[in-house]
Amino acid sequence: MSSAEGAEVLIEDVTRTYPASAGPAAGVFGVSARLAPGSFVTISGPSGSGKSTLLNVVAALDRADSGSVRVDGADIVAAGERQRAQYRLRVVGCLFQDAPLVGELSIANNVVLPGLLAGAERAAAARRAADLLERVGLAGCAERFPAQLSVGQRQRAALARALMNRPRLLLADEPTGNLDRATGRQVMDLIASVQAEGCTVVVVTHDPEIAEAGDQHLRLLDGRAQG
Ligand SMILES: Nc1ncnc2c1ncn2[C@@H]1O[C@H](COP(=O)(O)OP(=O)(O)O)[C@@H](O)[C@H]1O
Ligand SMILES: [Mg+2]
Repeated sequence: MSSAEGAEVLIEDVTRTYPASAGPAAGVFGVSARLAPGSFVTISGPSGSGKSTLLNVVAALDRADSGSVRVDGADIVAAGERQRAQYRLRVVGCLFQDAPLVGELSIANNVVLPGLLAGAERAAAARRAADLLERVGLAGCAERFPAQLSVGQRQRAALARALMNRPRLLLADEPTGNLDRATGRQVMDLIASVQAEGCTVVVVTHDPEIAEAGDQHLRLLDGRAQG
């Protein structure tokens, strides 16, 4: 179940701005950080401080206006769309506040999906999905559909799916934001276990306890890194 070695991420002078009709532009401005392989990095800051913008740039879901994000040496900002799609599929795993599972697919098939997209053989992908669902405590839910699960179960299923292709970088944007404390702790424990296997993990959080627990804690304010 262990992941390959965690990715090193070098964020250099990343700017991504959204034009504002009134007032100053929003986004992130000139953010730099080095995320060490296998580290647990937390990002905090008030609402609107640019946490999701930064994470989406690192996830290659969005592209920075300028600056670079080198993941194990390859700059995903400068990369073409094909390379960015491969990166999203094979290198990075994402977890969001609302687990965007495919409603028409069973939980098992949701988890299998990235494996099939990456060219895995179906039986092997199904075995891995079953292992992952067991690991997140959802072995009994494999044939259910997302709407039949609780919010916390859906979030654990989304984590299993994010791990399907053995990412070297896990990016989580307020993964416990919609969960009660006990369920949030379960999800954080699972995320910690992913880091323990060597994966580099980034968690955006409002929870000061989680933020302080990081090997590295990046604070954003008005789109800029503090201290
Ligand atoms: N798609 C968008 N279009 C316009 N403005 C945006 C967009 N996404 C984010 N912003 C603005 O950029 C700033 C940072 O947003 P965001 O990264 O979502 O902050 P956070 O995740 O820290 O709450 C906010 O002012 C937000 O309104
Ligand atoms: Mg956000």
